[in-house]
Amino acid sequence: MTAQIIDGKAFAARVRGKVAAHVARLVADHGLTPGLAVVLVGEDPASQVYVRNKGKQTREVGMLSVEHRLPEDASEADLLALVEELNADPKIHGILVQLPLPDHMNADLVINAIDPAKDVDGFHISNVGLLATGQKAMVPCTPLGCLMMLREQHGSLSGMEAVVVGRSNIVGKPMAQLLLGENCTVTVAHSRTRDLPEVVRRADIVVAAVGRPQMVPGDWIKPGATVIDVGINRIPREDGKSRLVGDVEFSSAVEVAGAITPVPGGVGPMTIACLLANTVTAACRANG
Ligand code: GUN
Repeated sequence: MTAQIIDGKAFAARVRGKVAAHVARLVADHGLTPGLAVVLVGEDPASQVYVRNKGKQTREVGMLSVEHRLPEDASEADLLALVEELNADPKIHGILVQLPLPDHMNADLVINAIDPAKDVDGFHISNVGLLATGQKAMVPCTPLGCLMMLREQHGSLSGMEAVVVGRSNIVGKPMAQLLLGENCTVTVAHSRTRDLPEVVRRADIVVAAVGRPQMVPGDWIKPGATVIDVGINRIPREDGKSRLVGDVEFSSAVEVAGAITPVPGGVGPMTIACLLANTVTAACRANG
């Protein structure tokens, strides 16, 4: 039996449609246009693509999109001054500083300078603490997108065994918190986990977020499990070009899993859709 393929592209389009409808109501009923500011420091090509896509999709749902670009050699003080300006700007409800930042900047310091109410990435320590204690937080976009797909797939996740492979602050840790909040039994596995295949085989839900191409093969997957692949890895192809693969070996996993997200077209499109949703949430909270 082959797994159901979870279509993240179509799901994200539905989320954007709902966001656009909500924005239209906010504009019509309250004269409120949610605004998202994205800050890019330097010229990293992958970051430039992400930032361009974020701006385009923000405008497409009817929100205000503001982009700020600082040169690679900008000082941390320049960036902090910009963040302060955006914190004070009533037209801006969400602020995203694209990561990674250049080495001479302290990313934690910069992220924690963002007003937590405008922290649509959910990376500020206040939001991390709120999420960890089950309070109303801004939730990081990628794990939020994964949770939305899991809820759509299963309805209640209560009592399910979930294994998150990867312990990053951006995906692994917040994903584990969200799954705990859904009453899953959660294991966070990582590169030092002993007998990783056995741990993954326990899971009804596998979230792979390690950043290692095709690290999780099909024979680690419990038959019928739901597999969410957060990895986006570029690997060389025989013809000299490259292709995108996830952290899961799709060709073998699809034969065993009950449902699986593809790469590309799975989790990826959900991340920006959730960023837009978080910005609307921030705008609503800011305006009572
Ligand atoms: N760089 C890669 N992913 C992300 C993200 O989700 N947020 C930010 N701010 N930077 C990123």
